Amino acid sequence: MNERSEHWNEIYNKTEDEKLGWFERDFSQTLKLLDLIPNWKESKIFVSGVGTSGLVDEILHPNTKLVLNDISSKAIEKLQLKYNGTNHQMEWLCQDLGKPIPSNIKDIDIWIDRAVLHFLTEPMSIQQYFQNMNSSLKVGGYAIFAEFSKSGATKCAGLDVRRYDLQELSKNLPNFECISHEEYTFINPKGDPRPYIYTLYRKIK
Ligand SMILES: C[S@@+](CC[C@H](N)C(=O)[O-])C[C@H]1O[C@@H](n2cnc3c(N)ncnc32)[C@H](O)[C@@H]1O
Repeated sequence: MNERSEHWNEIYNKTEDEKLGWFERDFSQTLKLLDLIPNWKESKIFVSGVGTSGLVDEILHPNTKLVLNDISSKAIEKLQLKYNGTNHQMEWLCQDLGKPIPSNIKDIDIWIDRAVLHFLTEPMSIQQYFQNMNSSLKVGGYAIFAEFSKSGATKCAGLDVRRYDLQELSKNLPNFECISHEEYTFINPKGDPRPYIYTLYRKIK
């Protein structure tokens, strides 16, 4: 276990889901992008840092396969408890996406990242994150990124974040085309505005 995973474990150990700064009830911003993807309900979807997000309920369909990852074993444990005994197609992972991930994570149709990538601040780990995504996503697959925008907060969960705009995201995605992008202000549980950029990309080669 490294320092980063300990940091996140501590947060998930001591904080009720609804008090987490990124807690959301309304997933329409992500669902709107998913709805632009043909047959997304029959896809293999990788969620990069799932936390304890209720998004999982929204993307669980009889023919979806979910690969649910988080650096925090505690978050994964909490979410596993919730789905214990159900027969959904779910694979659980506890990987730091700033480091190489196992090569058997592949054939992903859709990669979803809400508020995970922006915690990577070192150029090497950002590069590794995109390598991980690229090697596990099929050509023709899609990636959704929802990150703090340039006008967004500079910190979250006590950590510095790297903020993004379309240009900066696209720079890391030379073999992708942007299908959709939108600025969106999330209001956090304390009532504070948190500006995000929401994007949908398609891998073209
Ligand atoms: C702000 S939370 C967002 C959680 C979830 N995506 C959501 O929208 O509710 C960030 C999540 O990313 C995870 N995380 C942070 N750094 C990570 C990394 N390097 N690799 C994988 N997961 C990471 C954290 O444990 C945490 O669950």
